[in-house]
Amino acid sequence: MHLNLKPLHPLFAAEATGVDLRTPPTPELSAAIHEAMNRYAVLVLPGQAIDDEEQLRFAASLGKLEPMPAQVELEKQRLKHREMVDISNLDTDGSILKADDRRRMFNLGNQLWHTDSSFKRTPAMFSMLHARSIPPAGGETEFADMHAAWDELPEATKALVEPLVCEHSLLYSRALLGFEDWTEEDRKAFAPVPQRLVRRHPGSGRKSLYLASHIGAIRGWPRPEALMLVRELMEHATQPRFVYRHKWRVNDLVIWDNRCTMHRGRPYDDKRYERDMRRATTEDVGPTLEQPA
Ligand code: OGA
Ligand code: MN
Repeated sequence: MHLNLKPLHPLFAAEATGVDLRTPPTPELSAAIHEAMNRYAVLVLPGQAIDDEEQLRFAASLGKLEPMPAQVELEKQRLKHREMVDISNLDTDGSILKADDRRRMFNLGNQLWHTDSSFKRTPAMFSMLHARSIPPAGGETEFADMHAAWDELPEATKALVEPLVCEHSLLYSRALLGFEDWTEEDRKAFAPVPQRLVRRHPGSGRKSLYLASHIGAIRGWPRPEALMLVRELMEHATQPRFVYRHKWRVNDLVIWDNRCTMHRGRPYDDKRYERDMRRATTEDVGPTLEQPA
């Protein structure tokens, strides 16, 4: 096994070839992936004709699988494994979701800039998204480099934001799309959790902005001021020079580090074309407030 790396962007993201994930991952491969992730934060592994079990096996070789993905409504699952997140526009019988389906509306939230599971106390570390079928146009995924975004902040802004703690909730990001009719259960399950706004990556030693559309408050700040600052930081962090846009091919597996990147899906004609993507996710080591700053 030799992992060949080819940069895809001036700042981050690389294509990784020389591996076949249909064969069981070795400790050497896992070490090489971790090392490459420390440097590039996004890896594209093309031509991986893997099934759900192989994808989960690879994910588990890199860390602890995120147990049960959070969902607002526990729908019947299309996919067999609970650890596999269904990032498709398909119903349980494989047909395209109807235009007015609430799940379809809810999936639109993936098109907001975010980092996975920051609304959980222990958020996600790596996400591994595999393309099984893609639409003829649109449906790209964009990634933004939160190390570079941090590095390029003015010194005064760095000093201002460094000690801040944000409150993240899935309900905050969905509220941006007009979802308001939460049940008491939803409110309990998705009560805001605190996360550091600035974190240090243990693998690279670099600092990053930990931003997401899930943020709805900053501890100790009046809400309008907090939301204005977050909006300002989001605009800064998602400038085109920080962004790599991935145009999918079937059997691409893309791994991203949620600790130092944001991502968003791009629109496509989801009422007409099928887009079947499946995600395996590993957990971070603990809540960001319990990690060294
Ligand atoms: C995800 C996600 C965006 C996309 O899988 O976590 O946000 O392009 N995906 O499907
Ligand atoms: Mn996501």
